Amino acid sequence: MKIIRLDLMNFRRFEYSQIAFSSGLNIIVGNNASGKTTILESISMFALGRSLRTRLDKELIRFGQPEAQLRIKLQTIHNSNSDMAIRISGKGKQIAVNGVSKKHVSEILGHLYIVSFTPETLQLIKAGPEERRRFLNVAMAQCVQGYADVLRSYHHILQQRNHLLRMRQTESLSTWDEQLSELGARIISERQRFSRELAAGARTLYESLADSSDHLSIQYRTQCSGESSVAVQQSLASLLARHAQSDVMRGYTTVGPHRDDLQVLIDDHQAAKYASQGQIRTAALAMQLSLIAYIETHTGESPVILLDDVLSELDEHRQKQLLNFVDKTQAIITTAHQSSISWNQLQSVKVIRVDRGIISNEG
Ligand SMILES: Nc1ncnc2c1ncn2[C@@H]1O[C@H](COP(=O)(O)OP(=O)(O)O)[C@@H](O)[C@H]1O
Ligand SMILES: [Mg+2]
Repeated sequence: MKIIRLDLMNFRRFEYSQIAFSSGLNIIVGNNASGKTTILESISMFALGRSLRTRLDKELIRFGQPEAQLRIKLQTIHNSNSDMAIRISGKGKQIAVNGVSKKHVSEILGHLYIVSFTPETLQLIKAGPEERRRFLNVAMAQCVQGYADVLRSYHHILQQRNHLLRMRQTESLSTWDEQLSELGARIISERQRFSRELAAGARTLYESLADSSDHLSIQYRTQCSGESSVAVQQSLASLLARHAQSDVMRGYTTVGPHRDDLQVLIDDHQAAKYASQGQIRTAALAMQLSLIAYIETHTGESPVILLDDVLSELDEHRQKQLLNFVDKTQAIITTAHQSSISWNQLQSVKVIRVDRGIISNEG
């Protein structure tokens, strides 16, 4: 999977820009606030249907303009081209795939796969469960068919239930709980399956990346029991019923996939609490690289790798490991300092300069 071209119109600071990418390594160089992260953000719009930076689409529209437009041209592994467009206005988002307008934004999913590394990627290990659920959701929305729709329905119903809890209308809870446990169980089962495969890959990758002999183990943690979706559903339904009283006291729902975690252990100890900086970096890298492999196995396409300001965060050894890994795929890297990246072992580097929202392409 390669991005051939990207057009931005009134997207954040870009008034009108066209960017042509090479199929290998692309380096976006520019000073702070010139628009580097914005370029990666615009790419994430096509992979996820939304920005990785904000939930508020209207922030994406250039100040003083009524709407933003984005267009991307992709080439798949079979050399077929596809074209996607997004228009963002006060009324919401409209999308088109190969010139055909789509009803739901989620129909954009499954055309472009991305795996991104940012300075926040380390939070995947260091921060609380929310960051890891976000990682699962962002990854699975792209490569597990139907996941994004089920997740959205789940959150919609969760909001209704929480509203009832705050209103103390417990009589009508059971109708919501039935739907919530059905959708919640689908999310949990899919996450369990996905996490098992991701964990196996990450474990092997961690061993090859780490200079020590410790082990990475990753496991999906939920209060629900059961393996099959039906068993998980029964378990979730009874947990919801059992916690109903305390949920009313708290005013929110305390069980379900929105409370689960992806537990990361290094040598049997919680990485968030006990791991060293080096172990955290290696674990985060191993998880992301495992995700790349997962996407390749399940979609037949290589994801586009986005590295936002992150290479300077890694020492030279890990920089090399990462760059070697992404050498086979298209990668788009941003940096303020071109010289901080040791990319000399790589061929076909395209340098794209950006200065206050203006692009100039080089070599
Ligand atoms: N909606 C918008 N309209 C115009 N400019 C914007 C908008 N949103 C953000 N910006 C500007 O974009 C710049 C930040 O861009 P960013 O891509 O984060 O830069 P970089 O990653 O190169 O540091 C800031 O100067 C900010 O004011
Ligand atoms: Mg930036």
